[in-house]
Amino acid sequence: MRGAAFSSSVCAAIVIFVLGGCGTGGYTDEGSQGAGKQLFLDANCGACHTLADAGTRGIIGPNLDDAFAQARVDGMTSETFTQVVAAQIRFPIEETSTGTPGMPGVHETLPECEEVEGGVFCVRDQDRAVSDIAVYVAAVAGTGTAPPEQPAPTDGKSIFTANCAQCHVLAAADTSGTIGPNLDQSKPSKALATERVTNGQGVMPSFKNSLDAAQIEAVAEYVSSAAGR
Ligand code: HEC
Ligand code: HEC
Repeated sequence: MRGAAFSSSVCAAIVIFVLGGCGTGGYTDEGSQGAGKQLFLDANCGACHTLADAGTRGIIGPNLDDAFAQARVDGMTSETFTQVVAAQIRFPIEETSTGTPGMPGVHETLPECEEVEGGVFCVRDQDRAVSDIAVYVAAVAGTGTAPPEQPAPTDGKSIFTANCAQCHVLAAADTSGTIGPNLDQSKPSKALATERVTNGQGVMPSFKNSLDAAQIEAVAEYVSSAAGR
């Protein structure tokens, strides 16, 4: 039964994890869910694991949605979750007591590029890759849902690229639209940019219904400081 396998291997992993003195900091604080999803796919974790969010259907290893659904119901915190997954990747049970194939070691699943000959999948920083994948799996396994949509960008440059590029030249953002003024030449103040983005003028649309106040402030700040550079 997968449930039993899960709890025993998790315990073993935690013990090794603690005895190994790895600490917890790097795993839980720094991982990036987006990078982790890409790594999960690139490292071919899905060849052996089913994980709905990643769209994978491997059956050699445990179904990660099933394995973690119960832990989620039982209230395992996301921090613990992340640590457990990281420990599983780092210290997998390579040889199971039943003789069925276990999970390959971390130098096989996530080899560092220094360790391998060119042409095969590898990562530059194994610790980082482990925490990214762990944060990702912990966030999505057993949720039965896709992750929330990417939040709207809050940095001025991304907002500019997404909403303003087609009409304005701004070298710093590498845009070349010619419908509106060349902002490198007109060098608008932050106040003018805020006003235009909020209310629009002539051909320029108002963004007050599509961008929130913080986003308008961010893009205006960005335009006024980046123009002419
Ligand atoms: C060649 C097949 C294979 C590959 C590739 C593989 N795994 Fe596994 N994985 C397994 C097997 C088999 C187990 C069960 C080992 C055990 O606990 O007995 C396992 C266990 C796990 C567990 C613990 C699940 C549980 O129920 O205890 C996690 C988490 C996990 N793998 C994540 C990953 C991630 C992330 C990757 C990619 C970096 C990966 N695996 C790549 C075969 C694989
Ligand atoms: C559909 C094209 C279009 C889009 C999209 C657009 N603009 Fe404009 N923008 C214009 C036009 C046209 C003007 C000139 C309006 C006028 O003065 O009549 C203008 C004027 C401006 C001005 C004032 C420049 C000056 O010196 O007078 C700023 C600043 C500005 N836009 C910033 C932005 C930002 C930031 C965005 C994205 C949030 C954006 N624009 C999106 C067409 C556009």
